[in-house]
Amino acid sequence: MIRPIRFENGVLHLLDQRRLPGEEVWLELRSVQETATAIRNMVVRGAPAIGVTAAYGMVLAAGAAESVSLDTLERAGETLCEARPTAVNLAWAVKRMLESARDAIERGAGRDELFDRLARDASELEQKDVSSNERLGRHGASLIPDPARILTHCNTGSLATAGYGTALGVVRAATAQGKTLTVVADETRPFLQGARLTAWELDREGIPYEIITDSMAGALMARNEVDVVIVGADRIAANGDVANKVGTYPLAVLARRHGVPFYVAAPISTVDPDTPSGEKIPIEERDAAEVLAFAGINVAPEGARARHIAFDVTPASLVSAIVTDEGIARAPYERSLARLLGVELEVAEDAGSGPPEEAAVPSSDSRGETLPDSQAEARPDEAPPTASDDLF
Ligand code: MRU
Repeated sequence: MIRPIRFENGVLHLLDQRRLPGEEVWLELRSVQETATAIRNMVVRGAPAIGVTAAYGMVLAAGAAESVSLDTLERAGETLCEARPTAVNLAWAVKRMLESARDAIERGAGRDELFDRLARDASELEQKDVSSNERLGRHGASLIPDPARILTHCNTGSLATAGYGTALGVVRAATAQGKTLTVVADETRPFLQGARLTAWELDREGIPYEIITDSMAGALMARNEVDVVIVGADRIAANGDVANKVGTYPLAVLARRHGVPFYVAAPISTVDPDTPSGEKIPIEERDAAEVLAFAGINVAPEGARARHIAFDVTPASLVSAIVTDEGIARAPYERSLARLLGVELEVAEDAGSGPPEEAAVPSSDSRGETLPDSQAEARPDEAPPTASDDLF
């Protein structure tokens, strides 16, 4: 399993994902500014991976500070959060690191003690990301038929996390269970996370795959050549709307049109209870130059204008299930996600139809013990019909 993030002797090492699959180059980062730049420039990308990287960025900030200062760390946190706005994992990780720093400072920690504590916290966050993904993978594998042709978008594997992956983690877990899978990886213009990164990971794992251009997904589904679509997420709103790499929403529409289950796989930290619905999710727009060139070659006339919307929002009504490390959520998501998060439901009680007990299938029983995967999914495969089903 690839681990794209390493912290050794006070230095953050990142596998430069811009150079893959051609070259495996590791960059060494020593400051919070370098870390924010690496996140912005996509040296490291994928929601959980940038969360873990940001946590180490906070460690670097603590190490560089001349004295113990929460202000300095708060400014470092802002710099990191501004690097990429859509993935909630980044702000989530920074918030946790700041809470820990505040606690240490209140207890009178000195500079070295604060640094050691934050380094330990970041390392725990990194390990926890891997174990959460492994749990998530096992839950998700129970949804995958055998054999199956699985269409996925962007890169959601080890490279997008601290290790193992989310949607690709489900593929990995189902393969480990002996299921016969073929992955259809769409190339994911313009950054080509699918063609470059997902294919690179699947090659290393020996999992069969085919790359398609993004626009071929409809043709494949119309030919009945896709059994399941599974994608990751950068932020899941409290109502189950999902922000993910641009191109996810059209896949969900196509999947609904063709009766293909559309699953989202993400750790519970990607669910943002403070964002009520998808329209409140900040969507990153990147430099149009990334659209106007392909592999370093200009593909449009000199002076052409372009847009680069980096993420889109898939309405919850198109999502068959959300697979998390805590269990599988089904519609109505306000209730099922709140239940998995262990938070009080704050939305209007008329938001959903079914009883809350039926909506979420947590992976733990009341004593916090993990249930076998066979018990972690007890609902039918499709979300109940909603108004948007009438479209098709
Ligand atoms: O722009 P990116 O490459 O950071 O976008 C990544 C995605 O959209 C992933 O699908 C998402 O972060 C989930 S990764 C486990």
